[in-house]
Amino acid sequence: LKIVGDPAAMRSESSEARSLGRTIGFVPTMGSLHEGHLSLVRRCRASGSVTVASIFVNPAQFSPGEDFERYPRDPDRDARLLEKEGVDILFLPEASDLYRPGHSTWVDVTGLTRGLCAAHRPGHFRGVATIVAKLLNLVRPDAAYFGQKDAQQAAIIRRMVEDLDFDTRVVVCPTVREPDGLALSSRNVFLSPEHRLAAPSLYAALEAGRRAVASGERDAGRLRSMMTERLQGAGFRPQYVDAVGATSLEPVDPLDGEVLLAAAAYLGATRLIDNVTLTVPAGTVARS
Ligand code: PAF
Repeated sequence: LKIVGDPAAMRSESSEARSLGRTIGFVPTMGSLHEGHLSLVRRCRASGSVTVASIFVNPAQFSPGEDFERYPRDPDRDARLLEKEGVDILFLPEASDLYRPGHSTWVDVTGLTRGLCAAHRPGHFRGVATIVAKLLNLVRPDAAYFGQKDAQQAAIIRRMVEDLDFDTRVVVCPTVREPDGLALSSRNVFLSPEHRLAAPSLYAALEAGRRAVASGERDAGRLRSMMTERLQGAGFRPQYVDAVGATSLEPVDPLDGEVLLAAAAYLGATRLIDNVTLTVPAGTVARS
């Protein structure tokens, strides 16, 4: 595992790999790695590309009052995990090298940033899109790997890559879960033992939503209320529970086509997000 801190050195590494006829696969992360990240690394490695992972806790995607300062960081452990997975290059830049004095350019993906997490985290996706654009420019990968758990982020990055003509394929990989259904997240370490026990109810509520749709429910409002009540019953403070088009991320009511059921909810001070996708067969009759 080669650790590269300097952005210019990262560019040179990529150019060298390309001059040797290699393709480059990229897994951007904020570190504190878990099996979800490692599943992206494995998928990338399986493509036969030179595998680059980055760790950068991006200050621009945290609003004031969010958990930037206490976001879990353990670069030594992360580097050991990446080495074990056979990653070729770990790009570990400093904030001062990526946001240099005078930095004034931001990437704003409109439309997809109206609802879901964007409605509650102003500026978050501007920070995400900007850093991902910068990282793609430095690493210049043929493919970049993201998790479906952050469905809105994945949709926004796909849109940005398409709109700004990045020569990179966006690969979105399935959410990795604990045996009890809890989606893996670096923030799960903040859960108290009691909240950890309640946490799988987030996925359970979404799955209950999926089952309701399979049984004929087509009314988004009713579905949202049912999932919200389940979450409240399990001790969550829901931030949003929504049913949107899987690609447009716009509300769909009645439910139709490819649908994303997504929720964000707090257990104590810890905010968890999760989602499931489902297909509503065309022309199916609404349940009365
Ligand atoms: O998903 C994440 O970990 C981050 O949002 C990303 C894509 C690495 C950008 O900072």
